[in-house]
Amino acid sequence: MTTLRVIQGDITRQTVDAIVNAANTSLLGGGGVDRAIHRAAGPQLLTECRTLHGCPTGDAKLTKGYRLPAPYVIHTVGPVWRNGNHGEPDLLASCYRRSLELAAAYNLSSIAFPNISTGVYGYPKDKAALVAVNSVNLFLKESSSLQEIRFVCFDMDNFTLYQHLLPQST
Ligand code: AR6
Repeated sequence: MTTLRVIQGDITRQTVDAIVNAANTSLLGGGGVDRAIHRAAGPQLLTECRTLHGCPTGDAKLTKGYRLPAPYVIHTVGPVWRNGNHGEPDLLASCYRRSLELAAAYNLSSIAFPNISTGVYGYPKDKAALVAVNSVNLFLKESSSLQEIRFVCFDMDNFTLYQHLLPQST
């Protein structure tokens, strides 16, 4: 049985087996949550990321968490929102699915997601929240080795959206 939780806060503070980073295809850092994670993890994270040679949009790669409370970081690359007709929903769904598959492959029991693509990449927050929750629920129909999946919302808009989608999970 997997528990889904919605919280408002900073993903770098989460004590889970893996936190997910909303990265870009270079995996060499950026702004937003990516910058916060690299800052909190320390410079060894970038050193390991350099060995990964990037990551395609919709895919995910795992590193250690270094100075973070979480022992692992799963770096995924969300789509840039254009108008919704460029495969954005499938690519965003793939970010959640591939991250969960990696977590399961490494026998992790808890994972925390930020609201991928809803910052710099401009994905409408309501549409992104639906994709996130639907993708996670779809994954859980096939595999339930994870004990907890946490949605960490930084802003109040996202927090409110996720609370409505997952009302009994805060
Ligand atoms: N904890 C949790 N969520 C956060 C934090 C934090 N510390 N900081 C920001 N957010 P964004 P994207 C939320 O822009 O849209 C980077 O430069 C934020 O409020 O970080 O996927 C990468 O390198 C928003 O809801 O990621 C890429 O180039 C969510 O995280 C690009 O941005 C995602 O916002 C990726 O854009």
